[in-house]
Amino acid sequence: MALKQSTARIDAARIRADFPIFDQLVGGKPLAFLDSAVSAHKPRFVLEALEEFYEHSYGNVGRGVYALAERANAAYEQAREKVREFVNARSPREVVFTRNTTEGINLVAYAWGLDNLGPGDVVLTTELEHHSNFVPWQEVARRTGATFKAIPVTAEGELELEALDELGRAGNVKVVAVTAVSNSLGTIVPVERLIRFAHEHGAIAVIDAAQAAPHRVIDVQALDCDFLAFSGHKMCGPSGVGVLYGRSELLERMSPFQTGGGMIRRVSVEKTTWAGLPHKFEAGTPPVAEAVALGAAIDYLGGIGLEAIAAHEHELTAYTLEQLGEQPGLTLYGPPLERRAGIVSFNLEGIHPHDVAQILDAEGVCVRAGHHCNQPLMRRLGVAATTRASFYLYSLPEEVDRLVVGLERARKVFA
Ligand SMILES: Cc1ncc(COP(=O)(O)O)c(C=O)c1O
Repeated sequence: MALKQSTARIDAARIRADFPIFDQLVGGKPLAFLDSAVSAHKPRFVLEALEEFYEHSYGNVGRGVYALAERANAAYEQAREKVREFVNARSPREVVFTRNTTEGINLVAYAWGLDNLGPGDVVLTTELEHHSNFVPWQEVARRTGATFKAIPVTAEGELELEALDELGRAGNVKVVAVTAVSNSLGTIVPVERLIRFAHEHGAIAVIDAAQAAPHRVIDVQALDCDFLAFSGHKMCGPSGVGVLYGRSELLERMSPFQTGGGMIRRVSVEKTTWAGLPHKFEAGTPPVAEAVALGAAIDYLGGIGLEAIAAHEHELTAYTLEQLGEQPGLTLYGPPLERRAGIVSFNLEGIHPHDVAQILDAEGVCVRAGHHCNQPLMRRLGVAATTRASFYLYSLPEEVDRLVVGLERARKVFA
């Protein structure tokens, strides 16, 4: 089995050589890594940037006046500038370094939500959301007395956009928080439409770009969103660093999310005032080296090109849907290929996804099994869990072939 005519726009086999993780055998087998949606591997370029920073430029930021501290500060702010360019924010003041997507969304939910929501207001998410863009809103709605609602999804895992008319007519929508790409099903969500809906109703639009930023070009000005969050670890960067883009007019008006060192202008017993943007939202020592290495990851991805990466993943997804579609007793979930990113969720009849994943593991194939932090979506699909394969720039058609062989084995074992 081979990918029908090599139409892939990137040479994934060559790219794979940049990633030391693939130099090893796992359980005596080469790694077939089909779980990049959970976290991506790191190229040597990023690992070396991390090491180089720690070896030659490490220091805390915003504190020291000696040369090394200034060098660390410059590298940290240079990384911020790379992120600004990556999402096309107007200013680095709009780029806040966080720990991850989850922290970015919590920052908005608490720092904006606690001061701007109240009884009668509506917080709108969707049934497609990762718990990270669902639970913080549900909790802040509970604390403020606001009403929490979720746009329903179809059986194919796409948003029921017809519901918007009624939701809009009911009024008082203050937040529309939506993912750009579903982590369980790969659904590409028409966020432009939802952002327009939000603004037509005087609401803020918050985009969860955890599954989008690693794979697709993001332009926050063209999107016209108010906030957008993503994680470094899913885009070849290190764990421990994420990004929150926020429109400066909103960030300026918001109270801090966390308080302490690094985010103040003046502190006295009587009163404390806040630092300017973005430092007001970066309390304590930030992930300095991780941010620098995230900057290297942005350089690395930029050198390959996000459009080319998305095209490669599209080819692999098409191939996977075709191959899995031929498997007896296999149910595929999610939208058609045209509206799907590089994620394929499925179940084998009569075999629990965890058992499937374990048998695949014995074959050296890594997939995710479970509810994928999407319990409302699983409920909608009528399943407790699925098995999920997800792709990135280093994924190869041979890995899909090994997935298929592993599934055949799972069927035999459980026959
Ligand atoms: C769509 C989506 N949102 C949010 C998250 C949470 O990301 P993190 O764990 O990096 O905060 C994930 C992680 O899988 C995700 O897929």
